Amino acid sequence: MGERAIVMSGIRPTGYLHLGNYFGAMRNYVRLQETYTCFFMVADLHALTTHPDTSALKENVHRVIAENIACGIDPDKAALYCQSHVRETSELYLYLNMLAYLGELEKTTTFKEKARLQPDNVNAGLLTYPVLQTADIILHRATWVPVGKDQEQHLEMARNFVKRFNHRYGEVFPEPAAYNFGDDLVKVPSLDGTGKMSKSENQLATLYLADSDEQIRKKVMKAKTDAGPSAPNTPKPDYIENIFQLLSLVSDKEVVATYESAYNECSIRYGDMKKQLAEDMVRFIAPIREKAEQIRTDHAYLSRIMEQGAEKARASAQKTMDLVRSAMGLDY
Ligand code: TRP
Repeated sequence: MGERAIVMSGIRPTGYLHLGNYFGAMRNYVRLQETYTCFFMVADLHALTTHPDTSALKENVHRVIAENIACGIDPDKAALYCQSHVRETSELYLYLNMLAYLGELEKTTTFKEKARLQPDNVNAGLLTYPVLQTADIILHRATWVPVGKDQEQHLEMARNFVKRFNHRYGEVFPEPAAYNFGDDLVKVPSLDGTGKMSKSENQLATLYLADSDEQIRKKVMKAKTDAGPSAPNTPKPDYIENIFQLLSLVSDKEVVATYESAYNECSIRYGDMKKQLAEDMVRFIAPIREKAEQIRTDHAYLSRIMEQGAEKARASAQKTMDLVRSAMGLDY
């Protein structure tokens, strides 16, 4: 049997999953689990760097796990687990910290941004966030990391830490790289015509997988439009383009084509188009929400699934840590 390449990715349990997460990540993870050995992790330790209050952590971890399964991650195919359940992560993180320099950590864009946002809590965990992320990835000796553009610097740092480790202690780790989805990487615009859907910003312009039918309808109907084009075949303003883009994600091709022609013939009625979009969004999101909710409230199932994922991840981690300890001469 040929060895499958190893894929690893993580998501912080710090907010509700939204349509951007679905089309930008989740949907592609579901495809990856068919061809690769996949490790998908909920990064609860990373969450502590910005969210020291743990009162909602358990609930958030459960919700993210449930939403992942509802979106199609199969716990029998991928290892779906929680970061803190795999203690080897923390051990590897400690060793890697000795190979990470203050200068390079301080220069990291995400560190500077978070330090600016939380000036009263610029903790060492925040500084070494990319080191912990590297530990997550190389703990499974993964080569592919499906992440967005905002994580590219962290991956570059991971490669540097790997090179340093391998150079000092011997070739243990492959260099991880971003897995590029190419054309499958769909950008999901926000409903207010500015930027993308987001976990924390402009929540009224973002559709979450946990939104009720009423919330979905309300948000969609509020999307910005105008009086419509006044001449045939005029280019669309950004906020109208966005509505078409959203429609193309969840509506039938014929529906999109009908509105395209209506736009080009200046007969489009944005009210009708938004009603259509709202109903198609409800049709798309409601089953995911309901499935996630059913899983989220089934605590026996959840703990069984999380233990199953943790076992797979630990087995892989323990193999790697044996290699690490002996390479480092810590095998006495
Ligand atoms: N830093 C990632 C983010 O903010 C989350 C993450 C943690 C991650 N560990 C990871 C992503 C390992 C990929 C691989 O989105």
